[in-house]
Amino acid sequence: MKEKKAPIGVFDSGVGGLTVVLEMLRQMPHESFIYYADTAHVPYGDREPEELKEFAFSITDFLVQQGCKMVIIACNTSTSIAYQDLKKAFSLPLIGVIEPGVDKALETTKNEKIGVIGTMATVNSGSYQKMLRSKNPRVEVTAMSCPLFVPLIEKGRTAGDEVYQAAYSYLEPMKRTGIDSLILGCTHYPFLLPMIKEILGPDVIPIDPARETVNRAREYLKEAGLLQEEGKALHEYYASGDPESFGLVGGKFLKRDLGQVRGITLD
Ligand code: DGL
Repeated sequence: MKEKKAPIGVFDSGVGGLTVVLEMLRQMPHESFIYYADTAHVPYGDREPEELKEFAFSITDFLVQQGCKMVIIACNTSTSIAYQDLKKAFSLPLIGVIEPGVDKALETTKNEKIGVIGTMATVNSGSYQKMLRSKNPRVEVTAMSCPLFVPLIEKGRTAGDEVYQAAYSYLEPMKRTGIDSLILGCTHYPFLLPMIKEILGPDVIPIDPARETVNRAREYLKEAGLLQEEGKALHEYYASGDPESFGLVGGKFLKRDLGQVRGITLD
């Protein structure tokens, strides 16, 4: 039986999972966490499923070794490719980002036309398309990959001409399909939210699965008697690539000093 005080493990290919961390800081401010950024392998989006599964297994294993009481897979690509297998292999609670986003979109849409943007691996896996249709067969889904976004966001770039042009080239055609809700199916994308909103206009509602994901994690911990509701939280960050640059970019997005980011290589 794990202790309440044990940390929550959170992982992503890079800074994207910090959009989930932002929600954690809001919804569960007393929880300690260990964040693992697999920046040696970012972007995940163009990689093969087998490789992505291996990364997800070794990171989850590492987080379990650190004594985590739960792991939040703060990455749509890893959730799409590895969630089912991870669930079979690990006994601790695992929370993914796909189902919360799907449920939120189905609750939001009025015309049953939903858009999904994500990485190539997420879109090709069909995870969102299948789950949306299995929960509501009438729904029309348009999915598109946006491979230019993650490398820009990893450099801390969320504004300016280059970013705007990339965003416009993806979102304008998406908007023309008549969708009324758009799932931001990559945890990096909410860092572009102001620009995304500007391009989509008032008729398309962007959906960031982070809020619902963290809400589910919180409910789970509460029911299990594992929610830490007092005391000072400890936040640790690991990066498999350059820890310093992760600290700089991540700190800018979280608007706080990340402290010492530890470099790490898993085999
Ligand atoms: N942030 C991740 C996701 O939610 C992965 C992005 C990438 O590395 O391509 O899919």
